[in-house]
Amino acid sequence: MKLSELQPNVYPVHLLMDCDSGLCLFGAGFYGANDAIHMFHTSMPYVHVVDNDVWKMNEMRVMYPSEWVFSTADVTTWVPNVASASVLSWDIVSVDSPQNMFDWCWNNIDDLLKLANKYAVLTTSDFYIDRWTDTDEWVMTGLVNRSTKALTSLVIFERRAPAPSQTPTG
Ligand SMILES: C[S@@+](CC[C@H](N)C(=O)[O-])C[C@H]1O[C@@H](n2cnc3c(N)ncnc32)[C@H](O)[C@@H]1O
Repeated sequence: MKLSELQPNVYPVHLLMDCDSGLCLFGAGFYGANDAIHMFHTSMPYVHVVDNDVWKMNEMRVMYPSEWVFSTADVTTWVPNVASASVLSWDIVSVDSPQNMFDWCWNNIDDLLKLANKYAVLTTSDFYIDRWTDTDEWVMTGLVNRSTKALTSLVIFERRAPAPSQTPTG
């Protein structure tokens, strides 16, 4: 497979202009046509892809820039480990799980958002979206309809800007 053969899927690419680093969880199924390819096209320098498909990850290592990092791992153990270490984070985190992992994603949304400095883009369905309530840190700012057939959407989460610090006067 070559990058030029990929047909990039719908993605909120405007977010990427504001990002230097990206994490693609469940990043390999279509060789990155859903998310990594968009990061490539915006020349994002720091990208990390995680997926448990050994064969596709090996293919992707050859297709994408050699500086990119590819971790062949189970997301359900990788995410809690990295989130609890609180050392690594990325400007944008794409979470493109298969449908049978939507539950896991929503049950672990706090850990997933911990990994994102600015944005998270989650593939999901309407059923789950209603469960979300905005928090002090995160706001759901957008919904991109990706497939009418499969009823899947991309939800955009955006981290709230920190409140300006108050300087006492008088
Ligand atoms: C919808 S596809 C992802 C497509 C990908 N984002 C792309 O643009 O090519 C779902 C992916 O989830 C991966 N996957 C499923 N369960 C996983 C798990 N527990 N840990 C890591 N990857 C998993 C599959 O190997 C598959 O590549």
